Amino acid sequence: MCGIVGFIGERPATPIVMQGLQALEYRGYDSAGVSTVTDGRITTTRQVGQVADLSKILEDSSAMLAIGHTRWATHGAPSITNAHPHSSADGSIAIVHNGIIENHEQLRTKLQQAGYEFKSETDTEVIPHLIDYYFKQTKSIESAFHTALRDLRGAYAIAVVSSHEPDTLYAARLSSPLVIGVGDNEYILASDPTALIQHTKKVIYLNDFDVARITTGDLAVTNLESDSPTIPEVELLDLESEDAQKGHYEHFMIKEINEAPQTIQSAIRGRVLANEGIVKLGGLDNVVAQLRYIDRIVIVACGTSFYAGLVGEYLIEELAGIPVEVQQASEFKYRSEPFSRGTAILAVSQSGETADTIAALDKVKDYGVLRLGIVNAPGSTIARMTDAGVYCHAGPEQAVASTKAFIAQVTVLALIALHLSNGSTKDYKPLLKELVSLPDKAAAVLALSDQIKVIAEKYAPARDFLFIGRHYGYPCALEGALKLKEVSYIHAEGYAAGEMKHGPLAMIDENFPTFAIATDSPLLEKTMSNIQEIRARSGPVIALATEGNEAIAQLADDVIYLPPTLEQTQPLLISIATQLFAYHVAVARGFNVDRPRNLAKSVTVE
Ligand code: M6R
Repeated sequence: MCGIVGFIGERPATPIVMQGLQALEYRGYDSAGVSTVTDGRITTTRQVGQVADLSKILEDSSAMLAIGHTRWATHGAPSITNAHPHSSADGSIAIVHNGIIENHEQLRTKLQQAGYEFKSETDTEVIPHLIDYYFKQTKSIESAFHTALRDLRGAYAIAVVSSHEPDTLYAARLSSPLVIGVGDNEYILASDPTALIQHTKKVIYLNDFDVARITTGDLAVTNLESDSPTIPEVELLDLESEDAQKGHYEHFMIKEINEAPQTIQSAIRGRVLANEGIVKLGGLDNVVAQLRYIDRIVIVACGTSFYAGLVGEYLIEELAGIPVEVQQASEFKYRSEPFSRGTAILAVSQSGETADTIAALDKVKDYGVLRLGIVNAPGSTIARMTDAGVYCHAGPEQAVASTKAFIAQVTVLALIALHLSNGSTKDYKPLLKELVSLPDKAAAVLALSDQIKVIAEKYAPARDFLFIGRHYGYPCALEGALKLKEVSYIHAEGYAAGEMKHGPLAMIDENFPTFAIATDSPLLEKTMSNIQEIRARSGPVIALATEGNEAIAQLADDVIYLPPTLEQTQPLLISIATQLFAYHVAVARGFNVDRPRNLAKSVTVE
C-alpha cells in the first residue's frame, strides 16, 4: 500500500526521502513523487513506475525539507496526475496521503462550488484544496490543517509542506500508521520504521487524531479529539537495518523462507522454559486473571494470518479445551453476533496495520471483551490497541507473500494454547519439548529446496492446482494454495481432503495436479484413499509425507518427505515445503516474486 516519507533537518532532504521510499517499496505501489521546499518555494516531481524511475527525473536539490510518497492506486488509475504529492492551485501547499477519504465526493462538490478546480481522480486532492480554503480565512497553515482534518471522514496519514511556512513539516494520523524518527536536530516521518532505521532508532508513534508540527529543532503534538497538546513518548526500535536487507538472496521471499529456523527460535526464546516445563508469555501477564474466565475465543485475521488462526483453532481447542472460532476480519466487522463477557477477541496480523483487522477490534471496543493480539510489527496499531498480546519477533517481512510471519504466528499460537492449557493436558509436555527441536527440523526441510525446485519446475506450466489436507493439514492446504496463487498466478484452491467427493473431484483430469498433504496422522489412511481417487482419474499428485511412508511413493507422482514431528507442529514443516514450492514455481514462471501484481504488503484500506 502507499508509503509516506518526510524529512526536516540540516542536511539535504531528497536523498533521505528517496532512500526511505525505496525502503517502503516492498509495501507495493505503482507511482511515486516528491515535493521539496527550497527558498520558500515548493518543487514537486512525480512519476509512474518505480522509485528508480522517479530518481532519473529528480533535479538536485539543497532542500532540507521534503515529503515523498509511493502510491498504490485506489481512486483513479496509476498516472502522473493521480500520483502524490497533490498541491493547491497556486502550488503553495503540497501534501501526501495514505488511506481513504470516505467523504471526498461531498468535499469535492463543496470545494468546486467555492471555485476550486480538480486535476486528479483521487480522493486525496480534496486535502490541499481544503487546507488552502481555510488558510485563506485564517492565514495560518496550522489552524487551516486542523480545521481541514476535522472535515475528513475515513482513514488518513498525511504529511504537509507549505511555502507559507517553509520551515515546518506537518503530519497527522487517523487509522493509518505514521511514525516519526528523532535524530540530532532532524526528524524523519515515515509510514513504517523500515524507512528510517538507517538514520535513527528513536521513534515516536503518532496516535489517532494526533497532529504534529515539526521544525528542525522542535516537535509539538496536539490531539484533535481531546483538543489538547500531548507529550510524545520516544521509544527505541528493536530493529537492525540489515534485517530489512536482502543479503545474498535473490529475493526477499526466499530469504524469509530460509529464516524459518531462527523465526521459530526467536518466537520461543525466553518463553519456553523446557527444563521447568513452563511457558512464560510476558505479554499476557497483565490479563492473567481475565484469561482464567475465558470461555470462547474469536480469532480475527486476514489472508495468511487467517490461516495461521485456523491452525490456532485446532491447537487451542485440543490443548486448552476452549471453543475457538476463526473469522475473516472483513466479514466479522459487519456481522451481528452475540458476545458474552467471557469471549476474548484475538487479532492475528503480521503488519499490525491491516484495516479490516483493526476495524474488527474497533467493533468490539465497547463490548467489555478482552482484546488480544499476535503481531509481528512492534509499535503497530494493533499492538497498541489491544489489551495484551504476544509479539512474533520474526523481524521485518518484506516480500508481499507472507512466509516467516506464518511460521511465527503458528509458533506463538502453540505457545498460547500451551499457556491456556496450564499444563492440564497429556499433550503439554511433548509439545513443549517438540517446539525446542523444531528449528533443526525446519532446517532439514529447507535442505530439500533443490529437490522441491525440480518438482516445481515440472509443474510450473500448470494452469490449476488443488491443495488437499485433513485436520492440521487442512489450513496448510488453504495456505499452500494462497501462496501458490499469489506469487505464480496459477489458479489454486485449498480443500479439506474429505470434501473431494462433494465437488472438487469433478475437476480432476491429467491436466489438474493435486498437492496432497499426507503427513503421519490417525487420518493418513483416509488421505491416501483420496489420493487413490485422484490417481484413478489420471490426476497428477505431489505428496507431502512423513519420512518412512514408503507406500505413498507407489501412489504419488512425486513425494517430498518431511522429518517426523508431532501432528500439532506439522503445520510449521508443511508450510516451509509449500512456501518453497510456490517460490520455485514463481521463479520458473519468471514473475516478480517479491511484488506480485495487484497486491500490496500491508492492506491499510478496506
Ligand atoms: O499484515 P497482516 O498479517 O494483517 O496481513 C494479512 C494479509 O493481508 C496477508 O497475510 C496476505 O494475505 C499475504 N499477502 C499472504 O501472503
